[in-house]
Amino acid sequence: MNVILLGAPGSGKGTQARRISEWMAVPQLSTGDMLRAAVAAGSAVGRRAREVMERGALVSDEIVSGVIAERLDAPDTRSGAVFDGYPRTVAQAADLERLLAERERSLDCVLEIETDESILLERITGRFTCAACGEGYHDTHKRPSVPGVCDGCGGTGFSRRSDDNEDTVRQRLVAYHGETAPLVARYREMGLLRQVDGSEAIAEVALAIDAALGRGEGGAAAS
Ligand code: AP5
Repeated sequence: MNVILLGAPGSGKGTQARRISEWMAVPQLSTGDMLRAAVAAGSAVGRRAREVMERGALVSDEIVSGVIAERLDAPDTRSGAVFDGYPRTVAQAADLERLLAERERSLDCVLEIETDESILLERITGRFTCAACGEGYHDTHKRPSVPGVCDGCGGTGFSRRSDDNEDTVRQRLVAYHGETAPLVARYREMGLLRQVDGSEAIAEVALAIDAALGRGEGGAAAS
């Protein structure tokens, strides 16, 4: 099953994508994570992306779709993927449809996490992540059960993103409204769009997403 998670910065795409990819047993393809890894590695892609990401603008369609194309050639994506933060422009949406069709795959569902904009800034500036396994946390909404210790892997190192500051978040929201929000109409017309209220607590959003994806009581995913 190929599922796209659409939503503004801080709407909870990463939080929910991680969970969905576990129960569907398909990889989470987060272009933000892939680009941050490229920046950290100092690769050619990372060198081109770094300054753009720090400004809160969008990295070029060519770079991002190239990264996704490469990932779709890996065997673990054959039975599906959860796309987190991709596509983000009309051109990327067309790229993804083509990339899937070339591999005789198709898009099954687009989930839009709709979130009241007034809460996004607080969510993003309170975010931190386990440096070892990538599990996401929040200063208020999702703290590790034991302070300073990751629930997922027991790691004790955490990091915060350099683009999680107020100025950059405002630019990321501008990019979202200008470039990404128009995709909602595209996927509605294609009959693929399902919407959930992302302003609720994490567990409530998870339940709404499971219902939208047809996850059964026994934990089985819709085919
Ligand atoms: P990316 O990493 O994709 O960032 P983003 O889209 O801005 O989204 P975020 O990761 O900030 O938010 P999220 O929705 O995943 O929220 P999360 O679950 O973490 O992209 C970063 C940059 O890379 C872009 O600005 C761009 O430059 C570049 N880029 C990436 N993809 C690109 C593309 N396709 N094209 C071009 N450029 C691209 O949650 C946030 C916090 O809130 C967490 O602490 C979490 O614990 C908490 N939280 C989550 N849900 C809830 C809830 N329901 N209630 C309370 N707290 C919650």
